[in-house]
Amino acid sequence: MTLYGIGLGPGEGDLVTVRGKEILDSVDVVYSPGRLSRTVALKHVEESKIGDLDFPMTRDEDKLRTAWKAAAEEIAPQAREGDAAFVTLGDPNIYSTFGHLRRTLDAFHPEVEVEIVPGVSAMTAFATALDVEIEAGAGLSLREAANGHAPTGPDRMILFKVTDAPATHEGLVEAGYDVTYGRRLYMKQGETIITDDPSEIDERDYYTLAYAVKRDLNIEPATAKFAVDEHDSEEGEA
Ligand SMILES: C[S@@+](CC[C@H](N)C(=O)[O-])C[C@H]1O[C@@H](n2cnc3c(N)ncnc32)[C@H](O)[C@@H]1O
Repeated sequence: MTLYGIGLGPGEGDLVTVRGKEILDSVDVVYSPGRLSRTVALKHVEESKIGDLDFPMTRDEDKLRTAWKAAAEEIAPQAREGDAAFVTLGDPNIYSTFGHLRRTLDAFHPEVEVEIVPGVSAMTAFATALDVEIEAGAGLSLREAANGHAPTGPDRMILFKVTDAPATHEGLVEAGYDVTYGRRLYMKQGETIITDDPSEIDERDYYTLAYAVKRDLNIEPATAKFAVDEHDSEEGEA
């Protein structure tokens, strides 16, 4: 049988895909790596269907490997005898814990079939939440900016894990970027904040991303001309 890696989307229960919901309904057990993904999963499945896994809050690689090995040992028999799901926020293949599980299963339980159900990632949800259009022809890069890091280079970037917005902001502004921050976008848990003022989000909150765009970027989509024409004709009427 199968282990499904299901992307739950950014946090609101109704941004789970139809396929994700159908599979959550059909599996025997649903594992989640954290409190938030568990809360979203509970919008769709009974608590009795949630399986428990214990993940230490650590970067120690030995401890992480031990924890993932234990998780795989718990999940593998469930996915052999029936169907199981492992849920993550966003998409399971974008900066996600699911990769650890898949690699560990491949190494120690290669008989387990794995199938992934994509989810609405923060990397797409941000565009609507921040009212940003990535026009045809534009480039967009993904980076991590934990602990005040301020990666630079590409014309436009989405920065994940912005845990020290003031420090990240300083580096980016100095390097010539305009930056907008989005915290807890499409999430019911906690306050959603969209701002270009890092002092409004100086308190650490892991669920924060940033959109950085080079200040001197001059992009003029063909249809931008309509707004100029409209403005000119209004002036003519006055
Ligand atoms: C480990 S990554 C997981 C990304 C996830 N797999 C996805 O596809 O969206 C966690 C980072 O994603 C970003 N993130 C995830 N959900 C978010 C949300 N609802 N609002 C703002 N940022 C979010 C934050 O930068 C957070 O630090």
